[in-house]
Amino acid sequence: MSQTTPPPDANKLPAHVAIIMDGNGRWALKRGLPRLAGHRAGTENLRRVIRACVEFGIQYLTIYAFSTENWGRPREEVNGLLRILEDVIDKELKELSDQGVRLRHIGRLDQLPSHLQQKVLDAVELTKGNSRLTLNVAFNYGGRDEIIQAVQHMMRDGVQPDDVSPETFSRYLYTVGIPDPDLIIRTSGELRISNFLIWQAAYSEWYVTPTYWPDFDKDEFHKALETFANRDRRYGKINSSDYEKNHA
Ligand code: FPP
Repeated sequence: MSQTTPPPDANKLPAHVAIIMDGNGRWALKRGLPRLAGHRAGTENLRRVIRACVEFGIQYLTIYAFSTENWGRPREEVNGLLRILEDVIDKELKELSDQGVRLRHIGRLDQLPSHLQQKVLDAVELTKGNSRLTLNVAFNYGGRDEIIQAVQHMMRDGVQPDDVSPETFSRYLYTVGIPDPDLIIRTSGELRISNFLIWQAAYSEWYVTPTYWPDFDKDEFHKALETFANRDRRYGKINSSDYEKNHA
């Protein structure tokens, strides 16, 4: 971001930004590098974007780091992504915590190696008092899986059909207590939801850029926030001023 670029308008900032960090593989391929080098470059970029979130005053950031479908990738890549999660916790947690970042995990923890499950739980516990930015790491996360887990949990709790409302249901999701994302960013130009926050995204604004995730810098992030600030969110309704114009 150049020195002259003003910070985004604080009154029009999204409270919750969610990101599908796509394009790491193609970024690496373009450079003749292995796919994991793309994920490592993507992790470097994540640090920059987290810092920008803290600086701009974003309250919640959710990142799609590993989907329930990603187990189907080659073993080397899967292991590399598990390793990245471990490395981030081992090497970055202190800096994150010093910035006031609270770490949360969304997804199925029980399918991760047990030592990694413990690291995630410890990191969540260690940072639970931080309040500047809540970073939700979606790892082994799938929107359909989340909904099925929620339904099973509700049934086990004996919730009666007439008591099921959007509010009740939301309390059974991994994202309990987290507001729905206001803005979802997807890098690398793909136009699909990919099983990400499929319940929570009902009224999210989307920003899609052709830029690959490792290159999605602070300037681009700023541009996404500016675009969001100019969106007219109607939640399926109409603006009263438009109504008055039509009926004058
Ligand atoms: C999608 O790009 C990206 C992923 C499946 C992994 C994203 C992970 C990171 C950026 C690392 C940060 C992770 C943690 C745990 C903090 P792709 O590989 O599908 O790219 P392609 O479509 O170009 O092949």
